[in-house]
Amino acid sequence: EQIEKGGYEHFMLKEIFEQPKSIHDTMRGRLLVDEGVIKMAGIWDHVERFKNANRIIIIACGTSWHAGLIGEYLIEEYARIPVEVEYASEFRYRNPIITDKDVVIAISQSGETADTMAALKLAKEKGAFIYGICNVVDSSIARITDAGSYTHAGPEIGVASTKAFTAQLTILTLIAFKLGKHNGTLGNAEFMSLIAELDAIPKRVEEVLGTTHELVQNIAKDFVNATNFLYLGRGYNYPAALEGALKLKEISYIHAEGYPAAEMKHGPIALIDENMPIVIIAPKKGHYDKIVSNVQEIKARKGKVIAVVNKGDQQVSSMADYVIEIPETSECFSPIVASVPLQLLAYYIAVYRGANVDQPRNLAKSVTVE
Ligand code: G6P
Repeated sequence: EQIEKGGYEHFMLKEIFEQPKSIHDTMRGRLLVDEGVIKMAGIWDHVERFKNANRIIIIACGTSWHAGLIGEYLIEEYARIPVEVEYASEFRYRNPIITDKDVVIAISQSGETADTMAALKLAKEKGAFIYGICNVVDSSIARITDAGSYTHAGPEIGVASTKAFTAQLTILTLIAFKLGKHNGTLGNAEFMSLIAELDAIPKRVEEVLGTTHELVQNIAKDFVNATNFLYLGRGYNYPAALEGALKLKEISYIHAEGYPAAEMKHGPIALIDENMPIVIIAPKKGHYDKIVSNVQEIKARKGKVIAVVNKGDQQVSSMADYVIEIPETSECFSPIVASVPLQLLAYYIAVYRGANVDQPRNLAKSVTVE
């Protein structure tokens, strides 16, 4: 096992550090920047089905559901196809309206999650076209779908998903750009510039691992005894906030909630005092000014702000108690880059609390029963 961990103390840390490679592997053979092409046979063979879909319904559980939420932002923004994202467990029991004009995308790392599988069977019976995004090759979900794309993240051992999540985001980004190009909703110049930027995302992730690893380790020390955490973000980074909070609660057992930053005033603001740590994802692109006012509201109530900002940021940084810098990207890529320090934060807080990060209590890597 020591050898499998490749010198890292835990699988989770190894998997966090594998992300430049796993994202790259997921794009390999698909993203051909020089030719200006995204090659994905599973999408291309059914591209009219996607284009003419009434809507796309994304079905998943846990971390994969968070990836699905970001998929909704991506596909709606670039391909202009309506998207809904559903928890598989809710979808399957609420007599959903599904027609043969719907496309269902199932996202599952393991490809074995019972609720996701059951939801897919239901959608299939009603004639929907089923597309799978799985990590485990030949898994049950991969086998019942009509088409799909594997994430090539490699085996993920840590129960808390890290590299599978960023690989799922990579696939969803490729799908959104490919459909957008085909549908004519994403112009050629923007397409070319976005794919060039996507191609460099593994380097951005490498950079962020290098620049934030030690810093986040130190920040984590100050929060070992925290009992609550809030994670806030807007736009694409609202689901990233949900995922940051999920990572922390899964492995450190600290109660954490993710929220869209603007919803703070409808509830969570009541919880804010000098004992409440609040992680704010605030990159330059994407509602930055709005986030600035959210941070002001938090500081007025003495909340402890851990801000994830772009390099050279001034406004949020000047108010924050802790600043984690990430490279600036187009908004659609920021959840990938921003997730990395949040994974590290959850990891180190859990390690300092003496928790079993690779196998947290009560959780399973793949939930094959209801
Ligand atoms: C479990 C795992 C999570 C995972 C979820 C969905 O809860 O602990 O990490 O996100 O199942 O799993 P799937 O394999 O369908 O992505």
